[in-house]
Amino acid sequence: MEGTLSEKCFKDFLILIHELTGITIASNRTSMVEGRLRKRIMALKLPGYDSYLKLVRDDRAEQSLFIDLVTTNETYFFRTPRIWEFIEEKYLPEWFRNHPKQVFTAWSAAASSGEEACSLGIVCQSFKEKFPGFSYQIIGTDISNEMVGRCQKGLYTGRSIESFRNTRTALFKKYLKSNGEDFFEVLPEIKGRLRFSQHDLFCSHQHKDKFDLVLIRNVLIYFKAEDQEEVLSLIAPKLAEDGIMIIGESESLSYIKTPFKLVEPLIYRHDRSTIAVKAG
Ligand SMILES: C[S@@+](CC[C@H](N)C(=O)[O-])C[C@H]1O[C@@H](n2cnc3c(N)ncnc32)[C@H](O)[C@@H]1O
Repeated sequence: MEGTLSEKCFKDFLILIHELTGITIASNRTSMVEGRLRKRIMALKLPGYDSYLKLVRDDRAEQSLFIDLVTTNETYFFRTPRIWEFIEEKYLPEWFRNHPKQVFTAWSAAASSGEEACSLGIVCQSFKEKFPGFSYQIIGTDISNEMVGRCQKGLYTGRSIESFRNTRTALFKKYLKSNGEDFFEVLPEIKGRLRFSQHDLFCSHQHKDKFDLVLIRNVLIYFKAEDQEEVLSLIAPKLAEDGIMIIGESESLSYIKTPFKLVEPLIYRHDRSTIAVKAG
């Protein structure tokens, strides 16, 4: 492969990335984009970035691989401990008191490789052991097909489990089992309640039930304000009457227009009065 990424081609890639994922990449991140695409271009034995740009534009299968390359998928079990304490100690007990006969339904939107959905599965399973009448199902989605594949395999190692293993050792030992080769997976009774599929946050989710909990964490930061508003306007109608949505710790809804009201830091409810105002 010859040549570097020209300014024009870089700009065209940014437009394409935005079209395909909604992600806005800053105009000073040339070397990041270059680095992420180089290996693929070499594997395809293409002469340079321009020919790869043309290929991605024309070929849907390549678009899927391109999305895998340009998305940032960092995640780990029990990321932002405060949130998990809130779900375990406050939200689930309150939810179960109010809905003793319903199945608790949650959505890990932008699930990456599935650690967030598994963490929630562990919290729900542990709650179920105390309250056997409790039942749950967890949907995990991501735009990257590679990530959805990893979610479905559900095998974890390294940094993704490290902090969980060190800080909540008893829970780790109880709910994760080794596959004998340095990888761990959640117990089958949890895995059986997790479902993963590909989904773009800029499309409305077609799940038949409303969600009691939506985790949309560490993905809004990749979108510009008007795109965050669009994504959140699609999530709001998917929340159950008293459902909550949780965002990532470096994210905020303070400066954008959304139909959500803050309950606690990072935790929101659908503000239904905004619908009444619009309807009126
Ligand atoms: C940094 S990870 C966040 C994972 C997890 N939620 C967490 O907080 O640890 C961001 C994920 O968002 C996904 N993503 C980016 N754009 C998306 C879109 N338009 N629709 C759905 N997922 C998207 C990426 O593929 C990536 O896996």
